[in-house]
Amino acid sequence: MKVETKILHSGYEAKNGEPRVLPITQSTTFAYDSTEYVGDLFDLKVPGFFYTRLANPTTAAVEKRIAELEGGVGALCTSSGQAASFIAILNLAHSGDHILSSSNIYGGTYNLFAHTLKKMGIEVTFVDQDLPLDELKTYLKDNTKAVFAETLANPQLSVLDFDKFSKLAHDHDVPLIVDNTFPTPYFCNPLKLGADIVTHSTTKYLDGHAVAVGGCIVDGGTFNWDNGKFPQISEPDPSYHGLSYTKAFGKQAYITKALAQLMRDLGCTPAPQNSFYLNLGIDTLHLRMDRHYENACKVATWLENHEKIESVNYPGLPSNKYYSLQQKYLPKGCSGVLSIILKGGREDAAKLLDNLKLIKMEVHVADSATCALHPASATHRQLSDEELEAANIPANLVRISIGLENADDIIADLEQALTHVGV
Ligand SMILES: Cc1ncc(COP(=O)(O)O)c(C=O)c1O
Repeated sequence: MKVETKILHSGYEAKNGEPRVLPITQSTTFAYDSTEYVGDLFDLKVPGFFYTRLANPTTAAVEKRIAELEGGVGALCTSSGQAASFIAILNLAHSGDHILSSSNIYGGTYNLFAHTLKKMGIEVTFVDQDLPLDELKTYLKDNTKAVFAETLANPQLSVLDFDKFSKLAHDHDVPLIVDNTFPTPYFCNPLKLGADIVTHSTTKYLDGHAVAVGGCIVDGGTFNWDNGKFPQISEPDPSYHGLSYTKAFGKQAYITKALAQLMRDLGCTPAPQNSFYLNLGIDTLHLRMDRHYENACKVATWLENHEKIESVNYPGLPSNKYYSLQQKYLPKGCSGVLSIILKGGREDAAKLLDNLKLIKMEVHVADSATCALHPASATHRQLSDEELEAANIPANLVRISIGLENADDIIADLEQALTHVGV
């Protein structure tokens, strides 16, 4: 099946007389008629449901769908994208270990890695992902357990060089973990490009309608965990009566451990109702992503030629630094997110935002409706102009997430708001 068909039909199939639409199983608990069956469930010998913290039919259907769309052997949905990033790392690293991460990552992931993981004894080194391979290799350590990056970074919008990063990880016998939130599995399948594990904030385009916070981890089943570096996956787990995940689950060792051990202990489970919204959103992923991309290309081109705009950062523009990587790894499109730098300063950017009518001011991106944010007035308001410059988020930068409206109306709103800037 082609991807558009898979988007609609994977994960759940109605049998004779069953609901056509994935039902919401709003039940924390499930009933059984034999102790033997319950025992087999707890021994992970049979698939099934024993408690919604661990598995639920609505969530399981979405997990199956996302795993199929990414080309993985299994997936685990979480209550947020943050929880997905946390579990993805904690499942393979513990106190005393090291992670190598691109510095071009979402701010929340940066905080998790730089501060919370540090307090837990996991050290993360952040590197410029555009450095040559030989230089990147110098940051690897004996205790490095994974390399982490985003396909299309939020907010830098850099495109990951998959060939370079998969070589960086695999030459060191560690997996490459890629956050594929912005392109979604419709525009990019990192597992086919050398990644071993994929993470998502499903809150963004997968949901696509700004209704449900969520996350997901997808296991490619490609990495050999039995290489001596990951005893917590290959050796007996005392918290699961001595089970070795690699011996018992083979290619699904990583994702089974994430569920059976970490979801059990941390409990960052999505609500079945949210899994239902996520599933409904995914139904139209292909249509939405094509339109987000088409609209973003039109708006970015218009902005690039506007006299009050100094520069536009959008990898879909031929003038962009990452255009060739976008063509190589994201040939069908990237996302609807772009940023602009206005001629002028902080006040000009604020004026643009204050005069928008159709476009809503939101901290979110990837909404179905166009939204914009002035980081210097919002998420980064504690920073001085100099600090903002150093963080590559100048005071006159505006982030815009292009939605599904008619592009002419988005442009018209930006045009009228720009008349108030610099006057
Ligand atoms: C690329 C990326 N990864 C992870 C996250 C965290 O996801 P959530 O907000 O669902 O916890 C975000 C949120 O914006 C994101 O943009």
